[in-house]
Amino acid sequence: MTKSEIPGKIILFGEHAVVYGRPAIAVPVQQVRCCVEVSDLKEAPPGQIYIQAPDIHLSAWLHEVDESHPLHRIIQLTLDELRLTSTPALKLTIGSNIPVAAGLGSGAAVSVGVVRALSTHLEAPLPLERQSALAFKIEKIHHGTPSGIDNHVVTYGQPLYFIRDRLAERFTIGAPLTLVIADTGHPSPTANAVSGVRSRWEADRSGFEIIFDTIGQITDQARTAIERGEVDQLGPLMDQNQRLLEQIGVSSPTLEELIRTARQRGANGAKLSGSGMGGNMIALASPENATDVAHALEQAGASRTIITEVRP
Ligand code: PMV
Repeated sequence: MTKSEIPGKIILFGEHAVVYGRPAIAVPVQQVRCCVEVSDLKEAPPGQIYIQAPDIHLSAWLHEVDESHPLHRIIQLTLDELRLTSTPALKLTIGSNIPVAAGLGSGAAVSVGVVRALSTHLEAPLPLERQSALAFKIEKIHHGTPSGIDNHVVTYGQPLYFIRDRLAERFTIGAPLTLVIADTGHPSPTANAVSGVRSRWEADRSGFEIIFDTIGQITDQARTAIERGEVDQLGPLMDQNQRLLEQIGVSSPTLEELIRTARQRGANGAKLSGSGMGGNMIALASPENATDVAHALEQAGASRTIITEVRP
C-alpha cells in the first residue's frame, strides 16, 4: 500500500493579481489534508482501477466514472505520463478534510495526491515539478485561467513566492507567523470570481493594472518583512491588500464582517484569502491572542476556524 498526504493552502498576499503576472505568496496549511491510498487488488484483472472517495459518495470502477470527472482525468493523465506497458489492478482510496470551493486548494491537493500516490505505487515516482504540472492541467479545466499557485504550493508543501509561468521560489521565514483562518461557510467557486475580475478588467484595463501593480508591490514588501521576521509590518500590508481586493469586487459583506471582528479582537491585520466572494479570510494573530480571535470569529458566524503557524 502506498499513501500520500497533501496539505491545503492559503494565499497570504497577491491573489487575483497573480493571474495577471504579479507575484503572490502562499503557504501550506497542514491542519487540513487530502490523503490518497493506493493498493493492489489481487482479485481483479490487471489494468482495472477501483475508486473509493466516500467524501463525494463515489465508489466505482474507473471505466464507470465519466471521463470528464476530475478524478478520472487525473488518473488517466498520470497513467499516460507513466507509459507503463502493464499495471496491476489497483484500488485508490481518496479522503480529504479540505473544504471545497473555500480557497484552501482542495482540488489541487486531490490531484497532486493521486499523481503522487499512483506514480509512487507503480514504482515510477514523478518529480515534484511533473506532479504540479499534471495537477495544473486539471486546474485549467475547472478554474478557467488559474495562475498555477495552488498546485505549486500543495505539491512543494512549503511557503512559496510565486510568479505565473516564471517562478515558484522558496524563501526564508524570519520568525513564526500565527494565522487564524475563518470560513464564511459560503462556498465560492474560483472560476466565478476569476471570470468576474476578468470582465471588470476588460471594462477598465488601465485602472485594474494600477491596482494589480500596487498589490504586487505589497506582496514584495510582505516577502521582505517575512524574511526579516518583521511580523508587525505584515498586518498593515494585509489591510492594504484587502482594500484593493474590495476595489476589484471580490470581497463580500460576510468576509468584511469577519475581517472587522478579527481586527477588533486585536489581530494585527486581516484579509480575504483565495478567490474571495465567500470562502475563507485570514487574520494575523499572536500565539497569545489566536484562540481569542478564533472564538470571536466563530461568534461572528464563521462556520469553521483553523489556527496555523508558518514556521522558519
Ligand atoms: O483557488 P483559490 O480560491 O485559492 O483562488 C486562487 C487564487 C486566484 O488568484 C484567485 C486564482 C489563481 O489561479 O491564482
